[in-house]
Amino acid sequence: MSLKFEKIKTPLSEQFRLASRRMYPNGTVRVTPSECVLPTRYQEFANKIKNLEVREDDVWIVTYPKCGTTWTQEMVWLLMNNLDFDGAKSLLFERSPFVEWIGICYPEEEGDLPYEDTIELTEQLPSPRCIKSHLPKELLPDQLWTKKPKIIYVTRGCKDVIASYFSHHRVCNGYTGTLEEFAEAFLEEDIVFWDPFWKHILDFWKLRNEPNILINTFEEMKKDLPGVIRKTAAFLGKDITDEQVSQLAKHLDFSNMKNNTSVNYGEYVKILQERFSVDNPFMRKGEIGSGKKELSPEMIARIDKWSQEHIKGSEYPFVG
Ligand code: A3P
Repeated sequence: MSLKFEKIKTPLSEQFRLASRRMYPNGTVRVTPSECVLPTRYQEFANKIKNLEVREDDVWIVTYPKCGTTWTQEMVWLLMNNLDFDGAKSLLFERSPFVEWIGICYPEEEGDLPYEDTIELTEQLPSPRCIKSHLPKELLPDQLWTKKPKIIYVTRGCKDVIASYFSHHRVCNGYTGTLEEFAEAFLEEDIVFWDPFWKHILDFWKLRNEPNILINTFEEMKKDLPGVIRKTAAFLGKDITDEQVSQLAKHLDFSNMKNNTSVNYGEYVKILQERFSVDNPFMRKGEIGSGKKELSPEMIARIDKWSQEHIKGSEYPFVG
């Protein structure tokens, strides 16, 4: 099925565009099938990604943004590389490329930020590759569904995603709106990149019994990281001793990840913080429940109602 791109221009999306200083000013498109909202630039790369050569021994880490992607990438890369902590000192985005990034960022806006052809980086990576994507099911490479490599999909409670994604927009997109305005835009489902949220999650939730798909949650990782490490290692077919589990859990602890310059996008974030005069970090709080603390009671009630409407009949167990 060929992809179709429709320019999105609603009063609220226009307001959001004007409140953003990076990526959004160039406009957004809705991609069919999937209904996914992406930057206009994505159109140039969409088919290249759909036609990407998948390898059977790839591991794909797929998430809606802010669900614990980076945390999972680091865990998976280390499990796939015999806990090579020395090797993990090189930058995560080079070890585990963000395949569609080239279609998200605008080179002319990048200035002094590192800029790479992430599709080429993915193609050139030796096997086994650990590939990151936020794309919804329909926009991922077609060969994922024929070659069936392992896919780890990570979800997180919606309100925490909103709080985290708002902070991300402040620093990465120079977004000047408030948290409540951001939440409003998120609920519209046709404004924020990689929306719609529930469709993204539920499309993978439906595939939860496929043997090549593992669904983890941010909350499970927070409550029982050693348990998630063991479960993920078993899924990847890797033996791991109790001592290695403790070593890896320590490496992946929030305070260690926050200070680890190989994974915290530190240099990149510093440039953006200066550009937009904000102090939002990439690793913000790493908590469960921050959305509930930061959003107004009225907005929380709206989000919960909206979520319940979307998950109705899906047997999806968690809203958050
Ligand atoms: P917060 O903004 O709520 O702190 P992603 O990698 O998908 O963009 O997700 C980013 C979120 O995961 C951020 O959430 C970040 O702090 C959190 N995170 C990253 N590493 C973590 C860790 N080791 N422990 C807990 N949370 C972590």
